[in-house]
Formats: sequence, structure tokens, C-alpha cells
Amino acid sequence: MTLNQIPSRLHGRSQRLLRLSRLSLFGCVFNLALGLALADTPEQRITHHATHLAVEACGTCHGAQGVSQLPKIPNLAGQDADYLSAQLKAFRNQTRGDPDAIGYMWGMAAALDDETIAALASHYATHTPSAGRVSHSSALPMGRRLYQEGLPDQGVPACSACHGLDAHGLAGFPRLAGQHAQYLLKQLRSFQNNMRDVAVMHGVTQGLKRAEMESVAAYLESLP
Ligand code: HEC
Ligand code: HEC
Repeated sequence: MTLNQIPSRLHGRSQRLLRLSRLSLFGCVFNLALGLALADTPEQRITHHATHLAVEACGTCHGAQGVSQLPKIPNLAGQDADYLSAQLKAFRNQTRGDPDAIGYMWGMAAALDDETIAALASHYATHTPSAGRVSHSSALPMGRRLYQEGLPDQGVPACSACHGLDAHGLAGFPRLAGQHAQYLLKQLRSFQNNMRDVAVMHGVTQGLKRAEMESVAAYLESLP
């Protein structure tokens, strides 16, 4: 290559760059027009935002589909939507306060507004719940009796009266079926010692011994 060929090669390259930048300008305008044509309604934007949050942020702990792999982190899939909303507000308001709630969920819920909370709750409520898991089969008969009939001598009511015969939850009362036993046991102890301060569940758990809580938690985890 001679010295005077260099400028013409450079010229050719800058022409190509110009063509490329015109193309990408056209691309931007085209995408903008397409974006405006397909613009979401406000409701759709909140739903998309909630789905994105659920998978990218919440999913790292609760599982992308709301079924968690860690026994101390609750499954959310198939949970009652009103219950989920109430819990997210309780974390945001810092009223659900045992150490794990404080450590994991107060920060996560702090910036959620009511609309995003409602969209997250209906997102999880419509997912397929965990199928249940038998981990402690010798405890199941005691757990079943306690759940379905309570322990009248110890002043413990039947859990099924509020959580449903199949433990699938009822209007605002949470689903317990298929939930991790370790998580359930921790909640029962937190209700009993008022770290999770809910009068009705504090009353229910007053007469329960540790082994009884373990048996009902194992029974609930085994249910589909
Ligand atoms: C770093 C892990 C982590 C992340 C991320 C996380 N969570 Fe949690 N979440 C937890 C733990 C741990 C608990 C159980 C707290 C306890 O034991 O009281 C929990 C509890 C909950 C509960 C209560 C469930 C029940 O059955 O009462 C809801 C609802 C919830 N999280 C929703 C969410 C949502 C929505 C997000 C995303 C915005 C999220 N979490 C992000 C760890 C996490
Ligand atoms: C009188 C109604 C009632 C009865 C009976 C009852 N519960 Fe509950 N339970 C509730 C309510 C209401 C909540 C939601 C509390 C809240 O808002 O935080 C709850 C919450 C729970 C939770 C927390 C679920 C979660 O995802 O964090 C567990 C575990 C639980 N109950 C277990 C039991 C067991 C086991 C029994 C029987 C020994 C029982 N409950 C009996 C009303 C009841």
C-alpha cells in the first residue's frame, strides 16, 4: 500500500460508518414507534413490573415459581392473595417482627407500593402450589389428629376450623398444605412467644408443646 492510498481507504471506512449510523438511527425511530404502538396500560405495566420483581428479586429466595428450595423460606405459590397482601404490608409497616422477618423481609418490602403488593399477591396466588413432602412419617398420625380435632384437654382448637379441612386456606386464612415444616414450626414458636404478634394464633398456640408443634408441621408439609 502506498502512502496516498491511505486517505481513500479511510474515506471508504467513514462512509461505511455513516451508513451504519443512519441505519441504527432508523432502527431507534422504528423501535420507538413500535413501543408507542404497543404501549401497556397502567395495570399491565404494574403486572409486568410485579412479574419481573417476582422472578428476578423475590425468586432468588422464594424460587422463580414461588416454590422455595430452602426449608426456612416459605413457599408462596398457591397462597391466598389477601393473606399475601396483608403480610407484605406487615413487613413494610414493620409489624411482623421476628428476627427472620426483620432480617430478610423488612428491607424487601420497604419500597413496595400498594398496587405492586396487590399485583405480587395475585401473581403468587395463581401459581401451582408445592406437591408436599413426607419427611417425618411417624409424626403424621398425631399431627393429623391435632390439625383436624385440636387438643380439647389443652385448650387447643382444631386448626381445620380456620385453615380448612384440606389446609388449602380459606378467605384470608393462609394455606398451610405443602409448606416447609421448618418454616411452619418457626412460625408456631414465634406466635407462641409473641415475636410474631397475632392475637388469634397466640391464643391457639398457648397450650402446644414442642413435639406437638413438630407433628402438626410434619403433617402439613406432607399434604398436597
Ligand atoms: C433474601 C431472601 C428473600 C428475598 C429476596 C425475599 N424474601 Fe420473602 N421471605 C424470606 C424469608 C426468610 C421469609 C420468612 C420470614 C419469617 O420467618 O418470618 C420470607 C417471608 C415472606 C412472606 C410471608 C409468607 C408467609 O407464608 O407468611 C412473603 C409474602 C414474602 N416473603 C414475599 C416476598 C416478596 C414478594 C419478595 C420480593 C419483593 C421477597 N419475599 C423477597 C426471604 C426472602
Ligand atoms: C381461629 C382461627 C384459627 C385457628 C383455629 C388456627 N389458626 Fe393459624 N392462623 C390464623 C390466622 C388469622 C393466621 C394469619 C395470621 C397473620 O395475619 O399473620 C394464621 C396463621 C397461621 C400460620 C402462619 C402461616 C404462614 O404462612 O406464615 C401457621 C403456621 C398456622 N396459622 C398454624 C395453625 C395451626 C397448626 C393451628 C392449629 C393448632 C391453627 N393455625 C389454628 C387463624 C387460625
